[in-house]
Amino acid sequence: MLRLTDIQLLYGPIEALRGVSLEVAEGEIVTLIGANGAGKSSTLKAISGIHAVVGGSIEFRGQRIDGLPPHEIVGRGISHCPEGRRIFADLSVRENLLMGGYLLPKSETAQQLEQVLAMFPRLSERISQAGGTLSGGEQQMLAIARALMCKPALLMLDEPSLGLAPIMVAKIFETILSLRQHGLTVLLVEQNAGAALEISDRGYVLEVGSVTLSGDSRALRSDPRVVQAYLGG
Ligand SMILES: Nc1ncnc2c1ncn2[C@@H]1O[C@H](COP(=O)(O)OP(=O)(O)OP(=O)(O)O)[C@@H](O)[C@H]1O
Ligand SMILES: [Mg+2]
Repeated sequence: MLRLTDIQLLYGPIEALRGVSLEVAEGEIVTLIGANGAGKSSTLKAISGIHAVVGGSIEFRGQRIDGLPPHEIVGRGISHCPEGRRIFADLSVRENLLMGGYLLPKSETAQQLEQVLAMFPRLSERISQAGGTLSGGEQQMLAIARALMCKPALLMLDEPSLGLAPIMVAKIFETILSLRQHGLTVLLVEQNAGAALEISDRGYVLEVGSVTLSGDSRALRSDPRVVQAYLGG
C-alpha cells in the first residue's frame, strides 16, 4: 500500500532522514519506534507532504505521492494525526471534527460525522464542549477521530499515548486495534515500544535518521537489541 524508498529529508543543514525505506501493506498495523530525534515524526511529515523529501520516493497504491501538496495526499486516502494532538482548543468537539472533514463533499460530511461519533461515544456525549476543556485522553481521542473524518485508508498516528495515564494508554491501543477491524491500515509512531510492538504486525527501528532493524513485531520484541534499548533492559 505504502512504499518509502531511500527517502532523505533535511532541515537546513540537518539531515533528519538519511535514506529511509519502509513498507506498509493493506490491513497491517506497522509501528515505527526509536529514541527522541531519531526521525519518526519527520518520516510521517514526509509521507503527508508537510515537509518535502530531497531524495528517494514515496509510493501509495502504486503511485508516486512525494512532491504532491498535503491536501492532495489527504485526498488519496492518507490521514496524519500529529504529535501533540493539535486540537483547536476554542472550537467545540463538533467543530474540531468538521475541520477534519473539510475535504469531503458536503453531502457526505454529516454521515461521516455520525460514523466517527459512533466509534467514540465519549466524544458524542461532549459534542458541544470546547476542545481545550477535554481531558488529555479525550483530546487524544478527538485528534484520532478528527483524522478519521476525511475517510482515510491509511491512518498515521504520531505518539498517541504520550503523556496519558496507563488506563488511557490501554484505551488508545484498544482503539487502534478496533480501527484495523474497521478496515483501516495504521502506521503508528510510538515511544511506548512495548505496547506498540504488542499490537502491531511489523515494526521498524529508526536510529538517527536510518532504519537499523525491522521485522515481525513478535521477533522484534524478543530481539536483545530492542529489549536493551527500547524495552527497559
Ligand atoms: N523544524 C525543524 N527544524 C530543524 N530541525 C528539526 C525540525 N524538526 C525536526 N528537526 C530535527 O530532525 C531530527 C528528527 O526529528 P523528529 O521530530 O523527526 O524526531 P522524532 O523521532 O519524532 O523524535 P521525538 O521522539 O522526540 O518526537 C531531530 O534531530 C530534530 O532536531
Ligand atoms: Mg516525534
